[in-house]
Amino acid sequence: MSTDSDAEPDPQAAADVETETPPATDTNPEPSVPDTGEESHQERRLREKGQRATAREEQAADAAAEDVETVEILVYRYDPEVEGKTTPRFDAFHVPLEEGMTVLDALIYARDEFDSSLTFRHSCRQGVCGSDALFVNGSQRLGCQTQISDLDVPVQIEPLPHQEVVKDLVVDMQHFYEQMDAVEPYFDPDEEPEDALDEQRQTRENREKIKLSTRCIQCGACTSSCNVAAGDNQYLGPAAINKAYRFVMDNREGEDRRKERLEIVEQEHGVWRCQTQFSCTEVCPKDIPLTEHIQELKREAIKEDIKFW
Ligand code: FES
Repeated sequence: MSTDSDAEPDPQAAADVETETPPATDTNPEPSVPDTGEESHQERRLREKGQRATAREEQAADAAAEDVETVEILVYRYDPEVEGKTTPRFDAFHVPLEEGMTVLDALIYARDEFDSSLTFRHSCRQGVCGSDALFVNGSQRLGCQTQISDLDVPVQIEPLPHQEVVKDLVVDMQHFYEQMDAVEPYFDPDEEPEDALDEQRQTRENREKIKLSTRCIQCGACTSSCNVAAGDNQYLGPAAINKAYRFVMDNREGEDRRKERLEIVEQEHGVWRCQTQFSCTEVCPKDIPLTEHIQELKREAIKEDIKFW
């Protein structure tokens, strides 16, 4: 009696079997957690944060293995709008050190290579715009003008003190600008020239007199360093008073306008608040003799016999 196993194989039947599509198999038939395929914002943020931390560690390890010289920067971090970041902290970044590297360069490297959420202001990168004033190793400085090689390490970078922090190294400058506005910082002569295109010429001596005061880039370093401004929110502050000086001393404006300007700086929260601590002068990145200018305005006010507080 013959059986199926004894039968001669039919080549056509075998070919038919080989060309049949095998039934689809489910490699993951019953996931234990339903997968919606979506990642919440919080999950994504935490995942990216973990990835960034890992990347930082790997890069630091690579740099150490390759014997690349790095500098450690400790950067103030704070974000009032993100859960888990509302408590200020410092993040450490190991940045490859290059000749001529500034604090701003190091921050840009850290942001671009390690943590794109790191937030700070900058623009010109050459000490002109004044947007990157920071508190570096305990002193107000422009990030773009401060060489890393001149600093003790680790380099600690914080936002300007006495200002409300918006995020990380960004502070709210609104009040600072309001104080600048309060001194009416624009050229406003008693008499306009007959022709709008006529030059209003200034003597060389008078130009020299106000030259240093015109260097101000409104970075806010001076006001941030001032203990009086820290304790008196209404104090005009060194930057605004310096701006007033620039116009009070400009003899093209005329006597009437000069008196009005002196009355502004003579107010209760004006020049008489200055205690000549010189901190503003010390930190000014443009070397403006701010304290001297404030004292000179005090003298001018007395000469004009205006009341003082
Ligand atoms: Fe403009 Fe530093 S970036 S002053």
